[in-house]
Amino acid sequence: MPGLRRDEAENELVDTASRVLPGGGFGNVSHDVVLAEGRAGRVWDVSGNEYVDYLLGSGPMIVGHAHPEVVEVVREQVAKGTTFFANNPHGIRLAAEIVDAVPCADKVRFVSSGSEADLYAMRLARAYKKRDKILKFEGGYHGMSDYGLMSLAPKRAGNFPQPIPDSAGIPKSIRDEVLIAPFNDLETVASLIREHKNELAAIIVEPVQRLIPPKPGFLEGLRKLTEDNGLLLIFDEVVTGFRFAYGGAQAYYGVTPDICTLGKAIGGGFPLAAIAGRADIMAHFDKGAVAEDAFMLQIGTLSGNPIASAAGLKTLEILKRPGAYDRIFKTGRALMEGYAEILRAARVEARVVGDAPMFDIVFTGREVADYRSSLGDDAKMKRCNALLRRRGVLKSESKYYISLAHTETDVEFTLAAFAESIDELG
Ligand SMILES: Cc1ncc(COP(=O)(O)O)c(C=O)c1O
Repeated sequence: MPGLRRDEAENELVDTASRVLPGGGFGNVSHDVVLAEGRAGRVWDVSGNEYVDYLLGSGPMIVGHAHPEVVEVVREQVAKGTTFFANNPHGIRLAAEIVDAVPCADKVRFVSSGSEADLYAMRLARAYKKRDKILKFEGGYHGMSDYGLMSLAPKRAGNFPQPIPDSAGIPKSIRDEVLIAPFNDLETVASLIREHKNELAAIIVEPVQRLIPPKPGFLEGLRKLTEDNGLLLIFDEVVTGFRFAYGGAQAYYGVTPDICTLGKAIGGGFPLAAIAGRADIMAHFDKGAVAEDAFMLQIGTLSGNPIASAAGLKTLEILKRPGAYDRIFKTGRALMEGYAEILRAARVEARVVGDAPMFDIVFTGREVADYRSSLGDDAKMKRCNALLRRRGVLKSESKYYISLAHTETDVEFTLAAFAESIDELG
């Protein structure tokens, strides 16, 4: 059985982490790995173990780690100053590129994280509609705000549309402002809109919820329902933006929301995210464009940071080149098909869920269409991920992110590691 080396330096760091960080980590993935280096589709831990990396920094590294062209523009800008709290050329050009590429984007406001972008997108909808309620889907991830953390990963099945908070410390009153529906269920959405039409500001949705693709007609149905009933439609494209297509999931599926949020890819591995949307809605960020009580105050020290903008802009330039998305989709499809074949041959009850740029397996025999049906055998999943990791494949708990830098060799290596892991899993 293969194993990972663990040297003294890494042990010491893990010990220090458990002393000074709550739970021994930053709150993200497994705390027992300390990554030191990344290049293209691979990363190395402090002990020198090499992994094919499907974690990809949780998505931003879509062109691969330390892409030479990204490194070069970053290096150039670092030497000229790292932040100004003022407009800068890279940030302005990045905003212009987003407006050109993303169908719903007339204007862009930069922030530093996807959580912030979602928080402001929901606030923007409330400011525009002058109503408080937001409808979100069970299992939908919209960052860490009080509103976002409603029924993201409920441990028990609540009754729709009552939200279940995912975190301590959220005021009880927020529960009254969020309605929860099952993803891919237009009927429930329609009936909730009928009941709450005059209180609802918007529906927020991940066009691909975690890994679950929208059923044909679902996004179109949301668009029609929101339009017919005078609500705003927000696409959370923090993950899907520039990943499924250059214009994001809204271009991929051909459904244009009123507002979207972007993150991950647009920062090229640096803290940068954005709210983008229709000009009349985005006007609420402009003091001169709306009445005083309609203005949305929004300031952030690092918003539009020049390093992040330069890295993001270069990342987009690389993604825009002919063949980039074909390559990402080809790699993802090869893995998805290979995984399905291995699972079939081993007669394991599991599904490959997602689409080529991001997918995973779920240990379940059911069709996966919403949060509840996406809950598989979690313990088995954890064991499978650990077995893969021991064989040099790194991923998050429930997602493989595919990059432009992954190679056919990476695919072959991963499929062999997966086949062995499934075999050992029994
Ligand atoms: C769909 C979605 N929205 C929002 C966020 C939050 O983004 P961030 O981690 O940059 O705050 C994430 C993070 O993974 C996400 O997947």
